[in-house]
Amino acid sequence: MAAWRPPQVEELLAEARRAFLEEFGAEPELAVSAPGRVNLIGEHTDYNQGLVLPMALELVTILVGSPRTDGLVSLLTTSKNADEPQRLQFPLPTAQRSLEPGIPQWANYVKGVIQHYPDSGAIAARAQVCQRAEHSFAGVPCGIMDQLIALLGQKGHALLIDCRSLETSLVPLSDPKLAVLITNSNVRHSLASSEYPIRRRQCEEVAQALGKESLREVRLEELEAGRELMSKEGFRRARHVVGEIRRTAQAAAALSRGDYRAFGRLMVESHYSLRDDYEVSCPELDQLVEAALSVPGVYGSRMTGGGFGGCTVTLLEASAASLAMHHIQEQYSGTASFYLSQAADGAQVLSL
Ligand code: GLA
Repeated sequence: MAAWRPPQVEELLAEARRAFLEEFGAEPELAVSAPGRVNLIGEHTDYNQGLVLPMALELVTILVGSPRTDGLVSLLTTSKNADEPQRLQFPLPTAQRSLEPGIPQWANYVKGVIQHYPDSGAIAARAQVCQRAEHSFAGVPCGIMDQLIALLGQKGHALLIDCRSLETSLVPLSDPKLAVLITNSNVRHSLASSEYPIRRRQCEEVAQALGKESLREVRLEELEAGRELMSKEGFRRARHVVGEIRRTAQAAAALSRGDYRAFGRLMVESHYSLRDDYEVSCPELDQLVEAALSVPGVYGSRMTGGGFGGCTVTLLEASAASLAMHHIQEQYSGTASFYLSQAADGAQVLSL
């Protein structure tokens, strides 16, 4: 079984240029790409000022464009998954008139970035602007992980991000004997968007009950000692976050010394904690993880991202990838899709 290979940047760029020329009757003057990401470990820790360890993927989104002088913005998407309409035109925001999210939904994130962009500065502030766009235009009170890895990812490296200080450090991930397999469950339960803000609030409440700024400041012993100050559920949510921050630090150290077994064990602990304490997994993700773990050559596997569907990430020997994909698909009750990606670069300006 072969993993799905994403189209090459050149192919996507050619398609974008064609679509632009057809729509606007001229060649675009600027082209940029931005990667997808997979988080290796450090789940639901970013909005708790914790640690995360994502890598950028070879799967990219391409944007081409040209400046115009009439104060209008025209957008066109060629994505097959976007809602209708595919085209949209609106005036640039002014001090008196802000942009608003609406229909089509695919344009909301773009509008949000345009709205907030004048406030951006250095790279970390640029990531914060995109995060604000996601909060106010896409309605997800997300952390800063996705935006920072999209900007700072580097080929052959995972990125350890400290979401409190916004300091980052690159962790080499280019051993040819190692592979990162992403398995898409192809399910997305509606709980994903409703439960995320609830988890975030629960974490903030526990931190507050303990008199701390965030769960980053809380040690496991302090949490145990303060158990009476919070609900049972709040305690379990916080136990996940506090443990996950520690696991992420340990995992980054393990990866740096090439100890893939230790890394894999931490991934599995992370999954069980997300399943049992944080309760953001689902039967499909659990099935995919268990199936992966039964394959020789697999170091570890876990759900990745917000949860309630989406993908798992598996660290394994490169030579085991084909068998792993077969076995996972065989065991899975649904239809899985697979991506094998190297750690890739972050957002780039492309030459035209
Ligand atoms: C979503 C959010 C991220 C992060 C993850 C969970 O992907 O966009 O900021 O909180 O969930 O780790």
